[in-house]
Amino acid sequence: MCGVVGYVGKGYCRNYILEGLGRLEYRGYDSSGFACIDPQTKRLAYHRAEGQLINLIHKLEGLPIDGHIGIGHTRWATHGGISEKNAHPQFDCTESIAVVHNGIIENHHHLKTELLAKNHIFLSDTDTEVVAHVCEQFFKESSSINEAILSITQKLSGAYAFVAMFQNQSDQLIAVRKGSPLCIGIGKEQMFVASDPLAFAGFTDTVLFLPDESYALVNESNIQLFDFKGKKIEPTLTTLDIQWSNDGKNGFKHYMLKEIYEQKSGIQATLSHLRSNEKDIWGQLGLTNEYVQNLKVLSIVAAGTSWHAGRIAQFFFEKLCLLPTHVMLASEFRYMPYFAQQNNLSIFISQSGETVDTLECLYLTKSMKAPSLALTNVATSALAREAGGALITHAGREIAVASTKAFSTQLTALFWFAHKMALEKRLISYRQMEHACDDLLIAAEVLENSIEKYFTKISKELAPFYAQFKRFIFLGRNISYPFAMEAALKLKEISYIFSQCYPAGELKHGPIALLDKETPVILFSNLDEQIYQKVLSNAQEVKARGAHLLTFVFEGQEELASLADHTFIIPRVNPLLGPLAMTGLMQFFVYEIADVLGCPIDKPRNLAKSVTVE
Ligand code: F6R
Repeated sequence: MCGVVGYVGKGYCRNYILEGLGRLEYRGYDSSGFACIDPQTKRLAYHRAEGQLINLIHKLEGLPIDGHIGIGHTRWATHGGISEKNAHPQFDCTESIAVVHNGIIENHHHLKTELLAKNHIFLSDTDTEVVAHVCEQFFKESSSINEAILSITQKLSGAYAFVAMFQNQSDQLIAVRKGSPLCIGIGKEQMFVASDPLAFAGFTDTVLFLPDESYALVNESNIQLFDFKGKKIEPTLTTLDIQWSNDGKNGFKHYMLKEIYEQKSGIQATLSHLRSNEKDIWGQLGLTNEYVQNLKVLSIVAAGTSWHAGRIAQFFFEKLCLLPTHVMLASEFRYMPYFAQQNNLSIFISQSGETVDTLECLYLTKSMKAPSLALTNVATSALAREAGGALITHAGREIAVASTKAFSTQLTALFWFAHKMALEKRLISYRQMEHACDDLLIAAEVLENSIEKYFTKISKELAPFYAQFKRFIFLGRNISYPFAMEAALKLKEISYIFSQCYPAGELKHGPIALLDKETPVILFSNLDEQIYQKVLSNAQEVKARGAHLLTFVFEGQEELASLADHTFIIPRVNPLLGPLAMTGLMQFFVYEIADVLGCPIDKPRNLAKSVTVE
C-alpha cells in the first residue's frame, strides 16, 4: 500500500527519495509523486505521474528539480480514482505546503465542507488534500508550529501518517503519526522519513520509530518529538539490522515462483532460529513458565492468508496443548465485544507486521492489559515492536503480493510453538518435541519435492486445462478446510477466477446445487483416517453429480485418487503437517493457471502487499 519517503539534509534529495520509493514499490501502488524545495528559488517544485514509478522518473529526467529537502509517495488509491491530480504530494491553496500521506482521514468530507466555506480551493478528490488545507488554515491561525500541529491532530480523525513540507521553512519536515507507521532514519547531517525503514536501509542504520500519536519536527541534524498533548518525548533509537538487497527474481519468471521455491529454506531457517532461542523463550516473549502452564485459552487474530495459518494452527494448539483456541479475523474482531479472560494469550499473526486491522486489534488487547504475542516476518514492524513479545519467521523478504513463504513459515513457527507450549504444560515429552522438529523438516522436503514431481504435468497439461474454467469450488475438512480456503484465496487473487471454498461436509447443505460440468471441484484430503473416510463420501457426492474432480491425496489413499479426474499424490507426513506438505504443490498449481492466463502475478490488480488502511 502507499509508501511515504522524505529527506532533509546536506545531500540532494531526489535520488534518495526515488530510490526509497522504488524499494517500497512491492507494497502495491498505482501512482507516484515527488516534491522538493529548489535551493535557489526557494520555491516548491513537483511532479506526479499515474502508473509505475518509472513514469515519474521519466517525467523528472532532464529537469533540474532537486534540493536539500523533499518528499515522495507511492499511492494506492482509496479516496478518488487513479489519476495524476489525485497522486501525492497534495497541496494547499497557494501550493506552498506539500503533504504526502498514508492512511484514511475519516472526517475528510466534513472538513472539506468547512474549508470550502472558508474559500479553500480543492483540485483533487483525495482526503490527503484536506490535510494540506487544514495545515494551511491552522498555520495561518496559530502563533507557533506546535500549536498549529496540535490543532491539526485534534481536527483530523482516522488513522494516518503524513509528512508535510513548507515553502517558507525550507530546512524542516513535519512528520505526524496516528495509527499508520512512520519512522525517521538518522544519518550524518541528513534525516530520512519513511513509512518503512526499508526505504533508507543502507544509508543509515539508526532509526526512530515514531510512537503512536506523536509528531516530529525534523531538520538535517535534529529531531524534536512530541506527543499529541504537546509534551516533549525523549526519542528511543533502534539499530536496524535490515539490508537493502534486491537480488531480483534470480532467473524465475515471477517473484511468486521464486518465493514458492524459497519455502524449504525458509522453514529450515525459521526452525533453526526458534530452536536457538528456545532456552529462555518465555522470558523473551514477556511471559513466565507459570503463566504458560496455567494458560486456559488462546486467541489468534489475523487477516487473509495469515488468518488461514491461524485457522490451521488452531488444530495444533487444541490437539497438542488441549487449549480452546479462538481464531478471529482482525477486521471483525475489532468491532466485536471484547471479553476479557483470565489465563488467556492473544497471538497476532501478520507477514508484514503492519496490517492496520491486526495492529488495531493488538492495541485493543493491550488496552485491556491482556498479554499479547506477535508472529511476523518483519522484526522491525509495528506489530513486533508493540506486542508483549514477538516470534519472528525467517522467510526472507516476500515481494510478490500473494503470500507464499510467509504462510509456510507461519505454520512452521506455530507448529513449533504449540509443541513448546505442550512441553511446558507437560503434555508431551522432550523427545516428542525433537520429533516435531524432524517432522517439520520432512514436511519441508515433501513441500518442495512434490512440486518437482508434478512440475511438467502441471505446466504442460493441467494448468492449460484448468485455466479454461470460469469458476472453481474448493473443499476440505478439518485441518484441510482452512488450507482449502487458502488455496481458493490464492487462485482468486492471482488469476481473478471466481473460487469459493466450503467445508466438504457442508456441500449437501446447499453448495451442492452449484455442481455442474463447468465448475471443477478441488478437494484436499486429510491424514486422519476417520476424516479421510468422510472426505471419500464427499468426493463420491461430487462425482455422482457429474462434476469434474481434482484431488490432493496422501500416499495410500488410492480410493480417493481413483474417484478423481486428476489427482496429486503426496507422501505421508505428521497428520498435523498435511497442509504444510501440500502447500508447495497447491501454490504452484494455481500459479501456473494464472501464468497460462497471462495475469500480472506479482502485482495483481487492486491488491497491495501491505494493507495499512482499514
Ligand atoms: C494473500 C495475502 C493477504 C495477506 C493479508 C494480511 O495472499 O497476502 O491475504 O495475508 O493482507 O497481511 P499480513 O500477513 O501482512 O498481515
